[in-house]
Amino acid sequence: MSSENQRVSNSETDAFFVFADNNDTFIFADDNGGQASNDSVSQAVPNSPPATVAVWKILIVDDDVLVHRATILALEDCTFESKPLTFLHAHSGTEAKYLIQTHPDTALILLDVVMETDDAGLQVVQYIRTELHNHKVRIILRTGQPGEAPEASVILNYDINDYRLKTELTRQKLITVVISSLRSYGNILKIENQNSELTLALDHLQQTQAQLIQAEKMSSLGQMVAGVAHEINNPTNFIYGNLFHTETYMQGLLKLIKTYQEHYPTPVQAIQTTAESIDLPFLMEDLPKLFDSMRSGTERIKHIVESLRNFSRLDEAEIKPVDIHSGIESTLLILQHRLQANDKHPEIAVIKEYGQLPLVNCYVGALNQVFMNILSNAIDALKMGTSKWGITSETFSLPTIRIRTEIADVDRVLIRIADNGLGMSESTLKRIFNPFFTTKPVGSGTGLGLSISYSIVVEQHRGHLTCSSAPGKGTEFVIDIFI
Ligand SMILES: Nc1ncnc2c1ncn2[C@@H]1O[C@H](COP(=O)(O)OP(=O)(O)OP(=O)(O)O)[C@@H](O)[C@H]1O
Ligand SMILES: [Mg+2]
Repeated sequence: MSSENQRVSNSETDAFFVFADNNDTFIFADDNGGQASNDSVSQAVPNSPPATVAVWKILIVDDDVLVHRATILALEDCTFESKPLTFLHAHSGTEAKYLIQTHPDTALILLDVVMETDDAGLQVVQYIRTELHNHKVRIILRTGQPGEAPEASVILNYDINDYRLKTELTRQKLITVVISSLRSYGNILKIENQNSELTLALDHLQQTQAQLIQAEKMSSLGQMVAGVAHEINNPTNFIYGNLFHTETYMQGLLKLIKTYQEHYPTPVQAIQTTAESIDLPFLMEDLPKLFDSMRSGTERIKHIVESLRNFSRLDEAEIKPVDIHSGIESTLLILQHRLQANDKHPEIAVIKEYGQLPLVNCYVGALNQVFMNILSNAIDALKMGTSKWGITSETFSLPTIRIRTEIADVDRVLIRIADNGLGMSESTLKRIFNPFFTTKPVGSGTGLGLSISYSIVVEQHRGHLTCSSAPGKGTEFVIDIFI
């Protein structure tokens, strides 16, 4: 650096007259009769809420030790927002780069331009902003002479916050410039804090919104299912309950007819005609079979109703031992109509490879939601097309969902749900658990299914929910929870 215009004396009185031009006797001295004290600085700056720093770190970069000393003398007693200033010293660009890297919380750099090279200071600016991506630290260039680094082009090309000639810096001016830089650094910190608080709040809000929407969706589905189940349940019970009595009556009547036939083998003509018209022998043989099939039909309805009720237990808040397979079965039952073939799609086969599972402690309604979300996604994917089954070793050419359950490490249960749909690209796979992420057309997907499933498995059940998928290779979700 050029020191032609400096007069840094070793004597204490002279020490304030730094960077002074010969004609300017007040340079770097107190501008207002020695009142440029810390007090005046502190008074000028009302005590605002504490920033996130305990001290203001200032890095002085200059190859002239006298500049360091003079700067310290000028600033050492200053405080800002009741926090002291502390100084780091670099005597070259290289040293400055090292210090800023190790002290990323530096608030301000007073930076010389010409040091080991003519543009060492500018290189430091470049390094800080583009390599360290530190855009918070305030940088004041202090050049020795106007010609050293042309102000206009430096301000234009480098992200610096102020440009001062050493010759123009009086003590008061230095203090002013430093304090205003610290203030803007403090403001940046506050804005950054507020930004991250806002981002957190936004994330939280999105999560809550997602949960509310999904909860609403599932609760309406659950309520509808519960309602339908209830409505079907009552008439089914009439039928099922009366079936037993009807069958007993029917057996009695058949017995009576047989007894008549034994004792009156040749009945009167009218009875014979009626018996022929109703094909009595066939009727007597077929009637018990009809009752059998009616019984099994009503039993099936009862089973379906039970499944629907099982699925709709969404509001059951407590954790209890549950048969996982019955949850999967109920969900499949609700999705049954979507698995069947129609004029656009072939039938979707479901291969079940259920292991021997004990009852698993879980929130049954919530876990059923997870099955529902994963299975509906698999159906959606299979309706788009099928691919070679690449995620698992098997290959199925028809649209297929394979559900496999097993015990892992004694205390965990794994539920694998795989499909041979078209799979996902890497970038889709990365985002599937994000709330509102969907690749489905507007109106057909909310993008909530998997984010909710994730929070149910991971947060509510302390388990893991993972997915493997690749384009053209299908998809597999694994739910991993403790027994
Ligand atoms: N089995 C799958 N195969 C291919 N892509 C899938 C599969 N499962 C999920 N995805 C992708 O993940 C995205 C997010 O799924 P998610 O269930 O969260 O939302 P969605 O199905 O789009 O909407 P909805 O809220 O109605 O469930 C889907 O849009 C889809 O791109
Ligand atoms: Mg979905």
